Formats: sequence, structure tokens, C-alpha cells
Amino acid sequence: MTTPPEDGYHRKIDYLRLSITDRCNLRCVYCMPPEGVPNLQHDDILRYEEILRIVRLAVAIGISKVRVTGGEPLVRKGAVQLIRDIAQTPGISSLSMTTNGLLLGPRVAALYASGLRRINVSLDTLKPEKYQAITGCDGFARVWQGLIEAHRVGLQPIKLNAVVMKGTNDDEIEDLAALTIRYPFHVRFIEFMPFRIDQQRTRFLSSDQVLDRLRAMGPLTPVTSLNSNGPAQHFQLPGALGKIGIISPMSHHFCLTCNRLRITAEGNLRTCLFASEETDLRTPLRSGASDAELIRVIRQAIAHKPEKHALDQVITRKCISRPMSAIGG
Ligand code: 5AD
Ligand code: SF4
Repeated sequence: MTTPPEDGYHRKIDYLRLSITDRCNLRCVYCMPPEGVPNLQHDDILRYEEILRIVRLAVAIGISKVRVTGGEPLVRKGAVQLIRDIAQTPGISSLSMTTNGLLLGPRVAALYASGLRRINVSLDTLKPEKYQAITGCDGFARVWQGLIEAHRVGLQPIKLNAVVMKGTNDDEIEDLAALTIRYPFHVRFIEFMPFRIDQQRTRFLSSDQVLDRLRAMGPLTPVTSLNSNGPAQHFQLPGALGKIGIISPMSHHFCLTCNRLRITAEGNLRTCLFASEETDLRTPLRSGASDAELIRVIRQAIAHKPEKHALDQVITRKCISRPMSAIGG
């Protein structure tokens, strides 16, 4: 296998997050305004052959882990087939998908057959009414059924993402954590990132505050994860089947070990979630660039990956003009 490329700060870049659509069937409060955001035009979105070409080139330069994201990846037609084609690309050592889980139940057996094993599912609450308030959709039962089905067909690991918001779901920290006792799920508590200028920062609750609450539930054993792609700290409750993850984008910079690249649905390469700069890959892709030329563009972007984000400054300068659904989480 090719050794992963290094950026200007000696970080090995081996992980690619691919947004395959900007569309989503939910309107999570921490991600989108209630009216949604304008959708990209069909032609602006990378075609599957273009996505697969990028994946092959990424593997050629030493990237071996791929995560498929959105918007909501499962709303794009043919997503299962795409997953299969990515899984079959030689050199991929890990393939995963981030989904909101609404369409998971009916697709999960096919996804498993396509080679997918790892999924992250957004789940911020265990209460159906609150699920509706957070996402704008009465879909809790469907997501839960999708998770149970995913477990039944053998997906592993199944990670749940809970964005913790004061006054919204912070009363459920213990209940969400307790899922790890009965199910082999990894429950990850994510600090709320106030992406949009209009988002209320008073909703923020730090990971340290979450950890204090979890510690009160019983002794938390730190666990090291061999196959971790990133920034979570992991713990286990006594006798639990699953793990608890703590992700602190706001209170603890994890940029130092950031190993990732992102491709947006329209084919822009982003080297940092919070950067305002993107590198257009679609234009060269569609104007006959050779593999070598595309690889040069990708390598150059990697070489200029920013050292770290300054999210607070970024927000006040209003540089984040795109919702999470457009960037791909
Ligand atoms: N803050 C923290 N996490 C967010 N996500 C989306 N928007 C935000 C935000 N403002 C996370 C959710 C979702 C994943 C795709 O991105 O956890 O599961
Ligand atoms: Fe929610 Fe993800 Fe859809 Fe954003 S993209 S609205 S976080 S499900």
C-alpha cells in the first residue's frame, strides 16, 4: 500500500470524506435553517464515475479510508451501488457511511451485501416528540428500527452521533449513554458547533460538562481504539457492550492530529471543515485533465492544509457560509 501523503505540518492524510449529495430529508436545528438551503443543480453534483475516479486517485496517493456522507447519502439514487463500487476499489482499507438513519431500515441488508460495515447514525434523543422538534420530522421510530436492523444484519461498529444542546437534549445524556450497556453501539457526544451566526451559543455545553455527568453514572474506563480515524476520546461503563465517545471540536483543538480531506457534493476539495477555501476538482475533471494533473491538484491542496481552525474568529468573520449539510460533516 502507498504511504499516505503528508501535509505541511507532517500530518499523514489517509482519510477522505465524500459528500455524495447536498440534499437531506431532515432539517436538524444545528445544521440547517428551518426553511432548508437551496439545492445544487443536478449537473453541478459529481456523477458517480467522477466520484469513483477521485476515489481511485485518492487511493493512488495513499489515502485508504473513505467515509460517504451527505446531506443524507441515502437520498441519492443509486447510493447503494456507489457504496459497492467504492468498497470494491482496490486499496480501500476502511469504508464507512454517515447517515441520519431515516432510510436505513429498508436499505441496510443491501448495504451490508455491498461491503459496508461501519456506520454513524445521527441520534440526538430517544424521545419521539423531541426528535421531531430537533429534526423537523416524526422519524424516531424509523431510525430506531433502522439501527436494530443494522445490528441484526451485522454492521459493526454502529456509532450514534448525539449533538449535545443545553435545554434541548442535555437531560438525556445518561439515557443515551446507557444504550451502550444493552447494545454494542458507540454513543458519541459531540459538542454543538454554532455554525451559523444566528445559532444560539447559549445552547453550548462543553465535553467536560458531559463527562462530569457521565462519571456520576459509574466508573468510566478509558479505552483506546485501534481503528480510530480521529478526534474522539473513548470510555466504557462497567459491563457495557458498547463505548462512549466524546468529541470536542470547540473546547479541545484536535487539528494537531487531523488526518482528513473532504470532497463536497459539487466536487470541491476542502482540507479543513472550517476553511473558507476550497479547491475545484470538478472543472479539471470535466475538462479532460489527466490522472497525473488531478493528482497534482490534490497534492497541492494537501500541502496547503491549514494548521488549525479558529472557529470563534471564523464565526465572527462570517466565513462559514455553508451549512454542515453542504460540507458533509
Ligand atoms: N455541531 C456539531 N455537530 C454537528 N453536526 C452537524 N452540524 C453540527 C453542529 N452544528 C454533526 C451531527 C451529524 C453529523 C453529520 O454532523 O452529529 O450526525
Ligand atoms: Fe441533520 Fe445531517 Fe440532514 Fe444536517 S445533513 S439536517 S445534520 S441529518
